[in-house]
Amino acid sequence: MLPSDISSLSAAGQTLQVGLGERSYPILIGRDLPSDWIARIHGRQVLLVSNPQIAGYHLAHYQQLLEQAGKTVAVCLFADGEQYKTLEELGKAFDVLMANRFNRDCTLVALGGGVVGDMTGFAAASFQRGVDFVQVPTTLLAQVDSSVGGKTGVNHPLGKNMIGAFKQPVAVICDLATLDTLPPREFAAGLAEIIKYALIRDLPFLSWLEDNMPRLLARDDQALSEAIYRSCQHKADIVARDEFESGERALLNLGHTFGHAIETAQGYGNYLHGEAVAIGMLMAADLSARQGWLSATDVSRVRQVLQQAGLPVEVPAMTVATFRELMAHDKKVKAGQLRLVLLQALGQAIITSDYDPVLLDQTLAYRMPGQTSATPVSGN
Ligand code: NAD
Ligand code: GLY
Repeated sequence: MLPSDISSLSAAGQTLQVGLGERSYPILIGRDLPSDWIARIHGRQVLLVSNPQIAGYHLAHYQQLLEQAGKTVAVCLFADGEQYKTLEELGKAFDVLMANRFNRDCTLVALGGGVVGDMTGFAAASFQRGVDFVQVPTTLLAQVDSSVGGKTGVNHPLGKNMIGAFKQPVAVICDLATLDTLPPREFAAGLAEIIKYALIRDLPFLSWLEDNMPRLLARDDQALSEAIYRSCQHKADIVARDEFESGERALLNLGHTFGHAIETAQGYGNYLHGEAVAIGMLMAADLSARQGWLSATDVSRVRQVLQQAGLPVEVPAMTVATFRELMAHDKKVKAGQLRLVLLQALGQAIITSDYDPVLLDQTLAYRMPGQTSATPVSGN
């Protein structure tokens, strides 16, 4: 059971455990974390994977830590961006591993956001049929979501995250110092995933977020570590109970079915993943209200907390037909039926195909009063 009193959490150097038997691993959260996590890397050979943007800020520090601990470090940089989350780009990691004669005792260290983390995890899952990897997430989204739980992979031109594997890391290192260089828009995208946990299963956390949003936006260390800790607690709890998403884990996709349709229709890059998820969560709340489960006040509360975080809430100009077409490709379609994550109450999500399709069409067609045409967000 998760504690309901978030203020009981302390700020510095907190550790959580993802409980998966002999594959259990720690999540470390804090600033200036001790480097004893390197003891979880058993062999000598380490491949440090990042991209040029992140490497410019943070690679030297991690390379030095690893080398001081006696590791032999090779570096692989993927091109920056969701459009490079491809099998072709992934090949670069195998090229460096082979050229440096890395063996089965090697460890890959992902220093980056969700793109670097997902790709590095997939490389670790497949190099010599599986080697260890560590996640050092450098975006807020990666610290609270993608680095935990072992979903790894790359995109296919016809679908996002369609090629991949479940591969758990041996440790997750959430170093608050890496967030110092994160652009504000990327930071807000991470807040969307934090709000997601509150909406799915933690009403007290929603109130805490409403009260503490100014501290989070000011990147106050104490507030940030509390929010990251709380989010990782939820993720770890769900993953430990449903690692391979046969049930409950799908709740983590609140807003994602609508959000993926928006990302695909608007083109990757126009909306960040967290931004599209924010709009998608509001659409899920809207449909839940049409079903009679949420009140209009609940929906306003969802909209307001997203706006407080600086996230977009306007549905882009897309037809119902486009939404329907794109949503039909969702991974949660079973036997031709689209299942959606909806809210029975704030803090209580369900996955269901038992919703009224007419009401779904109303949600897909609805635009906020005063919204003339929704324009894709662009720039930082
Ligand atoms: P990202 O990895 O593309 O990073 C966003 C941008 O921020 C990039 O340009 C990156 O170079 C830059 N950046 C990263 N860290 C930085 C730092 N500390 N300072 C300055 N710039 C920095 O995006 P993301 O939002 O972290 O991740 C999105 C990806 O995560 C998507 O591919 C999505 O599919 C995946 N994802 C995976 C899971 C999972 O469970 N595996 C969950 C959610 C999302
Ligand atoms: N981000 C969804 C999951 O890890 O299941």
